[in-house]
Amino acid sequence: MDLQDRSILLAVTGGVAAYKAAELCRLLVKAGAQVQVVLTESASRFVGAATFQALSGKPVFTDLWDARVPNTMAHIELARAADLIVVAPATAHILARAAQGLADDLLSTLLLAAGKPVLFAPAMNREMWLHPATQRNLAILRADGARICGPASGEQACGEVGEGRLVEPDDLLQDIIAALTPNSLEGRTVLVTAGPTFEPIDPVRGLTNRSSGKMGYAVARAAREAGAHVLLVSGPTALAAPFGVERTVVETAQQMADAVMAQIAQAQVFIATAAVADWRPAQVLAQKQKKSPDAPPPSIALQTNPDILAAVAALPQPPYCVGFAAESENLIAHAAAKRARKNVPLLVGNLGPETFGQDDNRLELFDASGHHPLGSGRKIELARKLIGEVARRLAASSNLIQSPPRT
Ligand SMILES: Cc1cc2nc3c(=O)[nH]c(=O)nc-3n(C[C@H](O)[C@H](O)[C@H](O)COP(=O)(O)O)c2cc1C
Repeated sequence: MDLQDRSILLAVTGGVAAYKAAELCRLLVKAGAQVQVVLTESASRFVGAATFQALSGKPVFTDLWDARVPNTMAHIELARAADLIVVAPATAHILARAAQGLADDLLSTLLLAAGKPVLFAPAMNREMWLHPATQRNLAILRADGARICGPASGEQACGEVGEGRLVEPDDLLQDIIAALTPNSLEGRTVLVTAGPTFEPIDPVRGLTNRSSGKMGYAVARAAREAGAHVLLVSGPTALAAPFGVERTVVETAQQMADAVMAQIAQAQVFIATAAVADWRPAQVLAQKQKKSPDAPPPSIALQTNPDILAAVAALPQPPYCVGFAAESENLIAHAAAKRARKNVPLLVGNLGPETFGQDDNRLELFDASGHHPLGSGRKIELARKLIGEVARRLAASSNLIQSPPRT
């Protein structure tokens, strides 16, 4: 589980989005975290303590003078026990009080006493968000080392539209995991391709493959958790973009190649997980090809698609390139040959096409020294291991350390 053995102090303040904190609490518990909830006085007007107690399995704290803590210093005890303090939703009021170092209730006092990372997820009316006082307070909190998640844009509870919505609980969970992950790729830009491509035959038919995009999306998410700026170029999938990742959606191999080449100069790492079609129909028909009872089935002439990984690896100053190989037989021999042919330092072998669309996978790494198992398990866990390997190899490569990141 993503947050096994982690202790999260979830502080909820008095905004309409407090109801979403209940869902966040549930997701945190489901991810394996020990969750301790603190409500401000205003928050308890929006959602009752009983909801959070039921979801977290622990009594909720609101009062600075709570006598349930043996030494009566709840602000110290609760802060010490947490690996991370998450304030969600964070009102304009708590941002102001935390920035000024006020300590006039349990949460504000606890934040001063914390001595550990704090993640604020602001939520408020757009004018409150844009107010210079709020922006000043945020700048102070950032300078003090706080992590700010969001806000998102869209329709607000007050009926207005703009910036100030609480980031959705699923996305907040991803950012909480990122906040607890070592920043092994901080300052790096990682470009990831994912998913299948779709090569049209006519306006309604096309050639594609069984890639779901799950492995590539997991790699993009893991790279972002490790602190990288992540660019994701994705073929057609039903998946939501990982939180904090810049996604470009394409359809064909040629579009994917164009999107990669347009952004590759920013990247220090390129991870090609997409299952790019090797061929496309030489001609795309303008109208749907009609079936006629007497005519034989049409044959489709194919043309070779660009080899995106080989093209990136052949750039004068290539980023650190990682390829993926999915074979239906002889993975070891084919993957080793593919690594050499594409001239990339690292290739990842998917052990069997039966992993397409699944949440689990088994991966093997191929490098200049041979091949090594990366293990089997959930794709996100394997992606985290792969990102760890990439970060380690990048740091060990003195060449790459000496060449300044390209802008
Ligand atoms: C119905 C209602 C909705 C509110 N929604 C928000 C909100 O979304 N964001 C915000 O910053 N303040 C909001 N406020 C104002 C805060 O509740 C108020 O500033 C309060 O003092 C916050 O206290 P706290 O930060 O200690 O929880 C709202 C107030 C009311 C009455």
